[in-house]
Amino acid sequence: MAEKLNTKVKIMLRVTPGIDTHTHKYIQTGQVDSKFGISIHKVPDFMKEVLSKKHLIYDGLHCHLGSQIFDLSPYVLAVREMVKLIKKIKSLSGIDSTNLDLGGGLGVKYLESDTPPSIEYFVNLMVDTLENEAIKNDIPRPKILIEPGRSIIGEAGITIYTIGAIKEITGLKKYLIVDGGMTDNPRPILYDAKYEAVILDKIDTTPQEILTIAGKCCESGDILIKDLKLPLAALGDLLVVFSTGAYHYSMSSNYNGLPRPAVVLVNNGKSGLMVQRETYADLVKNDTIPEWF
Ligand SMILES: Cc1ncc(COP(=O)(O)O)c(C=O)c1O
Repeated sequence: MAEKLNTKVKIMLRVTPGIDTHTHKYIQTGQVDSKFGISIHKVPDFMKEVLSKKHLIYDGLHCHLGSQIFDLSPYVLAVREMVKLIKKIKSLSGIDSTNLDLGGGLGVKYLESDTPPSIEYFVNLMVDTLENEAIKNDIPRPKILIEPGRSIIGEAGITIYTIGAIKEITGLKKYLIVDGGMTDNPRPILYDAKYEAVILDKIDTTPQEILTIAGKCCESGDILIKDLKLPLAALGDLLVVFSTGAYHYSMSSNYNGLPRPAVVLVNNGKSGLMVQRETYADLVKNDTIPEWF
């Protein structure tokens, strides 16, 4: 494309460093068997190709290990592997890698028991590790880039549902069925993601039931939360699910022809609409009938 447009573009190479993370396998991306990136041992050959193209300017390396990572040791391993690669590139082609992008992935708190590392701890660990590895390998320390997503915004969002139906199967289970589900939050059905929630007006009431929170879609798998302890719930109660600020609206869909909910910004005692609620008219706005029909 750069050649076609007769321009030069800076590129970074996305590398799969071959490192496993302790997160759901659907959100691991840095392991050997990954559809993303160039396998680390193939990078030197790939570099030859990059350097042979006069429209490409090599600007550094990139890796992204996965998402919702709590144990940071894979990042330390990744920095070590990437620095070794930077040294190899230097010795094979004499080129410095000025930038090292370590991707995103820092986890956030979805459950009371989750204890994600702080952003400060993560950043300090990355900087210190890279500094040490650069000295050890005798290369200039590359500039570090990171691409945090979830850790910036995940915990800032909540989703508020209305309980529309209650179904009790005697001796087995009690369902609260809400006016949303896998359309506004596909993470439980995709990754078996876990959440906690409270009933808005009963936050201080002692929980007394174990419930399953189900969405309204026509899928038995449309379950938002399993085994949630709540106070006695009633129809019309508002259920608040925490940590829905990242990968919720952006992953939402119109499955079952459901319009997406509104998004409201709340800040310093003020609130305002950020995204309007979809209407049924929105759902059919692109529909058309061929002229010949
Ligand atoms: C290449 C890349 N960088 C950064 C991110 C952000 O990840 P996270 O939201 O886990 O920080 C993603 C998420 O999929 C990604 O694919």
